[in-house]
Amino acid sequence: MTEIVPKIIIHGGAINPDSEPFLEEIKSAIFEGIKILKTGGTALDAVTESLYMLEQKPIFNAGIGAWPNLKGEVELDSIIMDGRSLKAGAIAAAKNVKSPIKLARKVMEETDHILIVGSGAEELAKAFGLFELHKIPEERLKQWQDIKRSLKEGKDVPMLNYWKKISKWASIGDTIGAVAIDKEGSIAAGTSSGGFPMKLPGRVGDVPLIGCSTYADNNAGGVSITGQGEVIMTHLLAKKIIDLMKDGYYAKFATEWMVSYINELTGGKALLAVIAIDKFGNFGSARNTDKTPHAFMDVTMDKPLFHFSKIIR
Ligand code: GLY
Repeated sequence: MTEIVPKIIIHGGAINPDSEPFLEEIKSAIFEGIKILKTGGTALDAVTESLYMLEQKPIFNAGIGAWPNLKGEVELDSIIMDGRSLKAGAIAAAKNVKSPIKLARKVMEETDHILIVGSGAEELAKAFGLFELHKIPEERLKQWQDIKRSLKEGKDVPMLNYWKKISKWASIGDTIGAVAIDKEGSIAAGTSSGGFPMKLPGRVGDVPLIGCSTYADNNAGGVSITGQGEVIMTHLLAKKIIDLMKDGYYAKFATEWMVSYINELTGGKALLAVIAIDKFGNFGSARNTDKTPHAFMDVTMDKPLFHFSKIIR
């Protein structure tokens, strides 16, 4: 068996620009993951700690920077999956959680369940010292107010074009994700999100649902997806990409094929960006978005690779 070179791939959401300062933060997060993998740590730890770093940065739609819903409240979704055991943990529509990805990992490792929602997740956060009253960063609040005003005035909000009924409710999403493989060939994947801006309160997207935004299986690979949750959920996209990789297709082919497929089904209207690592240790990434900050690094490299994700229209 060929030796696996530990590696990690990260995305910072479908709408955020593939440029500074997003790339600078993703670089710090990828270095954190590589530090863990280089010292013999697990893919699970690399994914957890990298995403935790991004959750603490107000510019990403996850953790502290998550977009408020239609009522101006932040409800968080996240998931983590261990490809060795096929165990997963997730939280949904959770308020006041300091690190959604760390709480999802607690669900995976400390409970008999996979998904804990709403007030249950908040209670669990208290039990594990992960409760923190959410304070929406000023810049995010201002962006939210601007979008709400535009919707009320009937103006076009490109980020929300896929949602046809939102202006009726209003009188907009990004996510972070990571996939890593360690020296044992174990794969982990995780995704964390505020969902979509202006979602209805209680709306749960693709992120915490196993096989939708995220999946990991050592016999196939690992995947994290960002984009229009309702489309990702309908097509169980992460699991579809995993099934292609299980059949022996490389991550590059599986991610590119899936973006083409969804483009065809939706006329290219559903935002989508995908990152993956296959069981052979190859990485792949494809998207139909103009933006999406992303980076890849393995333990032999001294700096990450940027701007490689294939754009498919
Ligand atoms: N993909 C993030 C969401 O739709 O919630």
